[in-house]
Amino acid sequence: MYPTLLALHSVIRWLVLAGLLFALFRAYRGWISERQFSRFDNSVRHWTATIAHIQLVLGLLLYFISPITTYFLQHFNQAVHQREPRFFGMEHSFMMVIAIVVITIGSTKAKQKTTDNGKFKTLVIWYTIALLIILTSIPWAFSPFTRRPNFRPFVLAKVAPPGQKWLKPDQKPWQTGAVPQRNYIQFYE
Ligand code: HEM
Repeated sequence: MYPTLLALHSVIRWLVLAGLLFALFRAYRGWISERQFSRFDNSVRHWTATIAHIQLVLGLLLYFISPITTYFLQHFNQAVHQREPRFFGMEHSFMMVIAIVVITIGSTKAKQKTTDNGKFKTLVIWYTIALLIILTSIPWAFSPFTRRPNFRPFVLAKVAPPGQKWLKPDQKPWQTGAVPQRNYIQFYE
């Protein structure tokens, strides 16, 4: 369950980003060249928000089963000073909820606008803010801080990655400085 949810959450990040980028491309183009807000534009607005909502549900489910957030909640005073547990327990989750609220407000406001230009402009403003929050809150593989693979396979090997030792009982990867790797489950317990 946990590896599947984690892999789904990881892959849907690309759908969220693709949806937002496409919606923004159409919104900027429509706004600048004063186009008609078509039925297709309306579907793009709607589906972008829906994909974000699916990601929100997966994120909330993960929050309650992930060993990292469980550790964070159970050892709050200590974990709040540890980078990875704090990132997933607070920073990532909080910022992503905010971003999805921003997408929802933008989508609803755009729907309520009566002019085509008003709809495009509303989407431009709210979806741009959401995209910036999301881009800065993803644990990118290249991040110097908390990093995760860009593409996580659904089937994870339950062995320690080459060069990394098995963890001792109740030792967590973030306590060893080990970098989580693509094909391996986070916790080699
Ligand atoms: C647009 C919204 C979001 C995006 C793009 C996103 C993206 C990601 C990515 C790329 C990962 C790393 C996955 C991996 O290790 O392969 C991740 C992990 C995680 N996300 Fe999100 N996320 C979003 C929203 C949320 C929300 C709203 C929550 C909770 C309220 C959440 C909770 C988590 C948790 C708990 C993990 C870590 C799970 C673990 O490693 O055990 N995410 N997210």
